[in-house]
Formats: sequence, structure tokens, C-alpha cells
Amino acid sequence: MSILNRWIGSVVEATVTPHPLDRYLELVDPMLTWRDMRARVVAINHPTPRTVRLRLRPTRQWRGHRAGQFVQLGVVIDGVRHTRCFSPANAACDAHSDIELLVTSHDDGFVSRHLAHDARVGDVLQLSQAGGDFHLPSIDPTSIVLVSGGSGITPVLSILRTLVASHYGGRITFVHYVPSAADLAYRAELTALAALEPNLDLRIHYTRAGGGHFTGDHLDGIDDLATADVFVCGPPSLMDAVETFHHDAELLGPLHREAFTAAAPISVDPDQPVSGDLSFSASSTAVANDGRTILDQAESAGLRPEFGCRMGICFSCTATKVSGCTRNVLTGETDSEADTQIQLCVNAPVGDVDIRI
Ligand SMILES: Cc1cc2nc3c(=O)[nH]c(=O)nc-3n(C[C@H](O)[C@H](O)[C@H](O)COP(=O)(O)OP(=O)(O)OC[C@H]3O[C@@H](n4cnc5c(N)ncnc54)[C@H](O)[C@@H]3O)c2cc1C
Ligand code: FES
Repeated sequence: MSILNRWIGSVVEATVTPHPLDRYLELVDPMLTWRDMRARVVAINHPTPRTVRLRLRPTRQWRGHRAGQFVQLGVVIDGVRHTRCFSPANAACDAHSDIELLVTSHDDGFVSRHLAHDARVGDVLQLSQAGGDFHLPSIDPTSIVLVSGGSGITPVLSILRTLVASHYGGRITFVHYVPSAADLAYRAELTALAALEPNLDLRIHYTRAGGGHFTGDHLDGIDDLATADVFVCGPPSLMDAVETFHHDAELLGPLHREAFTAAAPISVDPDQPVSGDLSFSASSTAVANDGRTILDQAESAGLRPEFGCRMGICFSCTATKVSGCTRNVLTGETDSEADTQIQLCVNAPVGDVDIRI
């Protein structure tokens, strides 16, 4: 966007105050946006009973993604916007490409069930730029091992597709765990790729058909395993098993991890003293601080702040701390600065705290 265009937009926006320009534009067409990034669903299919594949066409603000990164998708359900993270499964793409998401529906999952059952071609969803550190390094490693379980296939498939598209010359070992052949959304493509690409070693384990869960011997026969870049994404038990193996086998290459869920609910140190009141000034609500994260306490107070990952990755729960001291429950660090942005899902109050939600 040129500086002149940006200036014209700012002037127009100033004249339509109090509502941002996008609130007016969306009355004409929700894809016609000045600042907000959105995406229209242009294709939907259900490759397996528990998954839905969405092809999204982003608005002009989209800058593309690196293989393995994730986006935040904002979905309005019953008038309330809910944000969740999803990793595009398509190869790394530029600003002009569609995005492919594969969403696994969880029985008690609010957003995943909605997308699996109620998403329609033509729906317009909120979209963030891609982010996250789980991606291919800028310089291709000499050998790559991809390990995924269940819905964790999406970022590693993006990596695999990117390597194939760029004619990567090193060895790729792709180990995937899925209950049965009927649950594998990309079975035909993976089988075809393995037949076409001599440097791809595909190892699918059907866990309910005796394929077993990860053990070190599932990586047997990889000549340069010791120096390979290993990427793992899947349930916590798989991630832990791969990490333990990587450590015990003294592998020298980097281990890249992407978690879709926290291994355990984020807990607060029981030895920390709990005192003070937690106020949510924009909602005229206050509760006695019970020591849990601010997101948990806000929800218990009947508020519905936005969240995505609930483990400090995506920043969708970020809100302004007006005053008070908070402790990051992951790092233990405290912060007493006023009028600062904090992530509600990984911060707990230390004494009186006021949050602007
Ligand atoms: C970086 C990142 C990338 C992600 N990429 C994808 C992706 O490409 N495809 C995809 O399908 N999902 C992906 N997820 C997971 C996704 O963001 C949601 O967490 C998931 O869809 C469940 O949301 P929900 O609203 O349906 O469930 P919620 O209503 O938020 O949760 C309902 C229940 O489901 C459980 N639950 C939530 N997520 C999972 C999970 N992954 N496995 C098992 N149980 C779970 C919760 O513990 C809870 O009990 C990603 C998550 C992160 C953090
Ligand atoms: S919900 Fe993702 S950082 Fe808090």
C-alpha cells in the first residue's frame, strides 16, 4: 500500500469516526477491508469423518506463511467471536495464495465442531498474519525427520510439501501416527508422494491396527539421524516420547516442537501468597484474587475474554493491565508496569490488579 493510499485511508477513517472505516465497508462487502484481515471460505470437504478441510481466500493484507507456522482464525458463533490457532497445511505460500486448513473436530470442542458441521462456502472469517517459530530454517538442513500424530499432521505436511515443491535434495523421513487408515486425511497424496520421491521415507503407524506408539526403533535405518533436524507435532505423549528419545540418543541436530494443547492445565505455584482484588474496569467487575491465571478468573467472573491457545503462544488473550503487579506463571517473572499489554492466559495477579476488559 503506498504512503499516499495510507494517508487517504487515515483521512477517510478520521471523517467516519466513531466507527473504524472497516465497520462501514463490511456493510457493503465483508471482504472489502481497510485494516482488518479476513478470509472467505471458498471450498469445504470432509476427507475423514472427524476432519474438515477448508480452503480460505484471504483479503489483500495477507503476507503468506512459512512452512510450519500457524494463523489465528476468528469465528463468530451466536454473535460472539472465538479465536483458535490453525496451521496451514499447504506449502509455504506468498501473499496471493489460498490457505488450506485441516481442522479435526473434537467431541466437546466448541470451534472445531462448529467448523466441521456449520462452516459454509462463502463464510467470512477473521484471520491473523502467520506466526510462530516452528518452521523450516532459512538454510535447508541436510536431513529432515518429521514426526506427527493425529491433527498435528498439518504443520509437518506444510513442511513436507514445501520441501517437495523446492526439490529438496536431502533425505526426508515422515513418521505419522493415526488410529486407522480411515482417519488419515492425506492418505492418497502421501502414498503418491512416497512413490514419486526417492528421498522420501514414509512411515505411517496405524495405532489401533497394532502400529504402536512412538518408540526409538521407529527411526531405525536413518543414516544421518544424529545430525537431522527433527520436527514433532502431536499429542503431549508423542512430543514427550520424541523429546526423551532425542535427548537419550544424544542426537546433535535441533529438535523443533509445536504443541496444539498444553501438556497439563497451566497451574499456579501453590507456595505463592494470594492477596488483593482483581478488577476488570471496562466491565465494572471485581473479584477477590484466588491466585489462578487472569483468564481463568475472568471466565469464573462471567466475562468472556478472547483466547486462542491458553498456553502463551498466540497472544489472542492480550489485554491492557491498567495497574498492579502480575506474575508470568511459565517463567516466574513479575511485572509491575502500568498500562502495559499482558497475556491473560499465562499471568496471575500479585495483589491488587486492574485489567481493561
Ligand atoms: C499453534 C497451534 C496450531 C494449531 N493447528 C491446528 C490445526 O492445524 N488443526 C487442528 O485441528 N487444530 C489445530 N490446533 C488446535 C486448535 O487451535 C484448537 O485448540 C482445537 O481445534 C480445539 O478447539 P475447540 O474450540 O474445538 O475446543 P475447545 O472448546 O477450546 O476445547 C474443548 C476440549 O477439547 C480439548 N482439546 C482442545 N484442543 C485439543 C487438541 N488439539 N487435542 C485434543 N484435545 C483438545 C480441550 O482440552 C477441551 O477439553 C492448533 C493449536 C495451536 C496452539
Ligand atoms: S490464549 Fe494464546 S497466548 Fe493466551
